[in-house]
Amino acid sequence: MTTDGTIVVTGGTGTLGRAVVARLRDAGREPRVLSRRAGPGRTVGDLDTGAGLDDAVRGASVVLHAATRPGHDVAATANLLRAVRRTGSHPHLIVVSIVGADRISLGYYRQKVAVEDLVTSSGLPWTIQRATQFHDLLDTIFCYTSWLPVLPVPADVRFQPVDVRDLAERLATLAAGKPAGRAPDLGGPEVLSMGELAGVWLAVRGRRRPVLRVRVPGAVVRGFRSGANLAAHRERGRITFVEFLGRAPGT
Ligand SMILES: NC(=O)c1ccc[n+]([C@@H]2O[C@H](COP(=O)([O-])OP(=O)(O)OC[C@H]3O[C@@H](n4cnc5c(N)ncnc54)[C@H](OP(=O)(O)O)[C@@H]3O)[C@@H](O)[C@H]2O)c1
Repeated sequence: MTTDGTIVVTGGTGTLGRAVVARLRDAGREPRVLSRRAGPGRTVGDLDTGAGLDDAVRGASVVLHAATRPGHDVAATANLLRAVRRTGSHPHLIVVSIVGADRISLGYYRQKVAVEDLVTSSGLPWTIQRATQFHDLLDTIFCYTSWLPVLPVPADVRFQPVDVRDLAERLATLAAGKPAGRAPDLGGPEVLSMGELAGVWLAVRGRRRPVLRVRVPGAVVRGFRSGANLAAHRERGRITFVEFLGRAPGT
């Protein structure tokens, strides 16, 4: 496996992908960034239609697949794999997935498992990196609900949010190495209840709201309550939620 060939990053304009591209550039690599929109350093292509994918993946030694569009990821990954086969490329395929995707009955998570299955049966050398929820996701959830007079959170649900810069570091290391199969799950440095995370968010954002812990029924929240979304591995990301919020725009 070459480690100095072309690295293609799908989703390289997204929350995670931008951090990955920045990390690769810091390491002196110039990845080929797939996007539906033209821009500096980008290769235009669409995973939904297949347009432009052949040119995007041709000759790649690594394809780091971080694109997502909920509801479309399985078909998109199948299109990506078809393009790889058509061009006769044999890249190391690295795919980003979600910790506990197979144990939490959320539609989006089922799609991630189906994507993993496509990858493991692709005949290509592969690595699957599962990660916990990103700090950005929790920030977005709290932003959306912060107009309410109370901040409602599901009771007894814990998260171990990870910073995309820590995940990008891991992915860059994987991209420079041999295919690893299922890499150890990556989570953030702290496991906190949703109520504790809400308290941190309110404090850093300077908002005053009571946090309302709500007992939410249903299989999805039961999955989260079971801790299936937590990364058991001892190697964790380093950047905490407070540190992330301290750097996030608007703080
Ligand atoms: N968010 C989380 O908490 C979390 C946790 C664990 C794992 N993950 C996984 O991490 C990965 C990245 O997630 P993210 O939150 O960083 O995603 P995101 O910010 O929503 O970015 C989505 C990316 O996908 C690209 N994309 C979407 N549809 C496309 C299409 N048809 N063709 C080409 N590109 C397309 C977009 O590129 P353009 O718009 O430029 O075309 C964009 O760069 C995903 O696999 C996700 O499941 C996320």
